[in-house]
Amino acid sequence: MLLFLRQYIKNPKKIGAIAPSGKRLANAMMRQIDFDSAECIVEFGPGTGAFTEELLRRRRNRTMLILIEQNEKFYHLLKERLGEQLNVTVVHGSAEDADLIMRKCNFSAADYIVSGLPFNSLPKETSLNVFRAAKEMLGENGVFITFQYTLLQRNFLAEHFRFRDMLHVYSNIPPAYVFVLKNR
Ligand SMILES: C[S@@+](CC[C@H](N)C(=O)[O-])C[C@H]1O[C@@H](n2cnc3c(N)ncnc32)[C@H](O)[C@@H]1O
Repeated sequence: MLLFLRQYIKNPKKIGAIAPSGKRLANAMMRQIDFDSAECIVEFGPGTGAFTEELLRRRRNRTMLILIEQNEKFYHLLKERLGEQLNVTVVHGSAEDADLIMRKCNFSAADYIVSGLPFNSLPKETSLNVFRAAKEMLGENGVFITFQYTLLQRNFLAEHFRFRDMLHVYSNIPPAYVFVLKNR
């Protein structure tokens, strides 16, 4: 919690929240995933692992989990905690390069992308680069699950993805929207 707050103070636009996501939001994100069929799940911006913990608890051991975190402190925390787990790769890098990173891990497509990226405060150019990479990775069947605290990014996301669903998680603090997206 303190580490998260400190990183937010250093770089509010990239971190985008003062605290890690809560369990209810994590559960709402997880409910979008068919863990029996998923072969490759990629997480953008895992931070201190609020969603990662649930992904690890629910995934089958054969499912590859690729975590891409740009913040050095969060990366080291995750690497230390999870670096030895079977079929888990922790990468220090930008989700903008996620398609290349995934291919280096010998996967040609992601079944699910779980994103914690704060598109609302990231530069538009960064968001566009992330969308490009995500579209490349999703193919026809992949699902992109992302949350935001406001609906400000809805139209921007809709320009690039098809909405499969949108949920409002009132019980999260602050309340959040979960967008479930597919390639256009
Ligand atoms: C709102 S926090 C979410 C953290 C965590 N998923 C959660 O829900 O508690 C956003 C995270 O995205 C990371 N991030 C921001 N830009 C990124 C990028 N281009 N590539 C990868 N991670 C990024 C930040 O370092 C931070 O960990």
